[in-house]
Formats: sequence, C-alpha cells, structure tokens
Amino acid sequence: MARDRNAKRILASQFNPRLPPTCELTEGFCRIFIADIDMLRLLGKHDAERPRCPKSPACALVRMLATCGKPLELEIGCGMGKFIAARAKNHPEHHFLGVEYEEVRTAHTDVAIRTAGVANANVVCGQAMRLLEFCLPDASLAAVHLYFPDPWPKKRHLKNRIFNAAFADQVHRALRPGGTLNAATDHDDYFAQMREVMAADTRFESIEPLRRAEDEITEFEMKFRSKNQPVNAASWKKR
Ligand SMILES: C[S@@+](CC[C@H](N)C(=O)[O-])C[C@H]1O[C@@H](n2cnc3c(N)ncnc32)[C@H](O)[C@@H]1O
Repeated sequence: MARDRNAKRILASQFNPRLPPTCELTEGFCRIFIADIDMLRLLGKHDAERPRCPKSPACALVRMLATCGKPLELEIGCGMGKFIAARAKNHPEHHFLGVEYEEVRTAHTDVAIRTAGVANANVVCGQAMRLLEFCLPDASLAAVHLYFPDPWPKKRHLKNRIFNAAFADQVHRALRPGGTLNAATDHDDYFAQMREVMAADTRFESIEPLRRAEDEITEFEMKFRSKNQPVNAASWKKR
C-alpha cells in the first residue's frame, strides 16, 4: 500500500500539465516513460528486458533507437541544447540524444534542435542514470558527452555528483567497443575525481580530449570563457 501511494506521488510530481501528456505528441520530446519506470520499480513490476520502456514499442525513444540507423551519441545534462543542436548539424552522419532533468531546459533543448532544423537529434526529460540503466541497450552508443555537470561543491553533497564508479559502469555497458566518454568541467576537484574514477577502470583508456567546433561550445563554457576561467576536458575510449 505504502509503495502504491509512493508510486502515485512520484507519478503526480512528474506529470506537468504544461508538457505533452504522452511521448507520442512530438517526435523530439519523450517524457513519460521515465515516470512509468519509476512507478513500475516501486510497484515491483519492472520488466527485466532491455530496453525496458513499458510503452514499448509505442515509445518514441524505443522507436528512435530501433529506426535511427546511425551511430548514436548521448549528451547528459544538455541544458539549453546549444551543444547538441550544433553537433547534430555538424555531424549529420550520427544521431544525437540529449537527456536533461529540468523540464524548462528540456523544452529549450527541444526548441534549439527544431531551430537548427535537424532531424538527427532528440531530447528526453529525466534522470540520466535512469535512462542509461533502464532504456539504453548494451553497446548502443558511439559516444557519451558530459559537459559541466553540476559540481556539488559542498562536502555533504558530494554523493550527488553523477560521475562516479557506478556511472562509469553504466557508460561502459552502453558504449560500443571503441566508443568514447567526453567530459569537461571548470571545477578542479571534480575533474580530479573524474580522472581518478577512470584511471581505476582499466576497461577504458585515456585519449586526447575531443575537439569540439566553436559552435559546439556549451552555454556554461561560454560563461567561463567570458570570465577567463580555465576549464578542463578529457576523453576516454572503451577498450
Ligand atoms: C551546470 S549545467 C550544464 C549544462 C550544459 N551541459 C552546459 O554546459 O551548458 C548541468 C545540467 O545538467 C542537468 N543535470 C544534472 N544532473 C542531471 C541528471 N542526473 N540527469 C539529467 N540532467 C541532469 C541540470 O539540470 C543542468 O541543466
């Protein structure tokens, strides 16, 4: 009973009447499945198969994964969508998926993708770890991009950082062999943590940081540049 109530509460908090009520309404904006997965987990009715979207095969994400026919790149925490929109335009031979957990930013990314006029990018609203863990099949990604993730600088908040051994594990599972993880941050301590996690994971090798075109610089990176604040970038390849 308590679990049922909790599931309903989560569902209620994740539905927003201003947003499309199902993932069917727009081709780029798939939202509902993340809430469904949370609810099914809480109810103990989660299906063990991958991809695990309960709306499959109607879900826009599942359809996209099945039909895009191009190497897929994932951007985690795509913010306002500047990187993904530019990168999709610059690389029509790849397909891009953004995940962002703030609704307004997800909507901005959706607009950025549409404004760029590209058909090779989509954005979903939800928790990146949920998406990785439950929705993306093994070896389905050619690249993962993580730019300026929230640094959670306070000691008691360090556990909220997304980049840790469990994250590396999911990225490894979802990347195909030779696929890359590309990260950048302005935060020295977080950068040191990223390097430490990846140095301990022998399934990856460190490679030259990905060179992004000038229009692929993210909003946060532009802010740091304008204040002459240095940023660190790194890339790793799945062996
Ligand atoms: C500091 S901002 C950087 C945005 C963008 N990457 C940039 O460089 O301009 C971090 C973004 O990641 C999103 N985010 C943080 N944790 C997330 C998670 N676990 N899943 C999805 N998005 C997340 C935040 O909502 C925010 O938009």
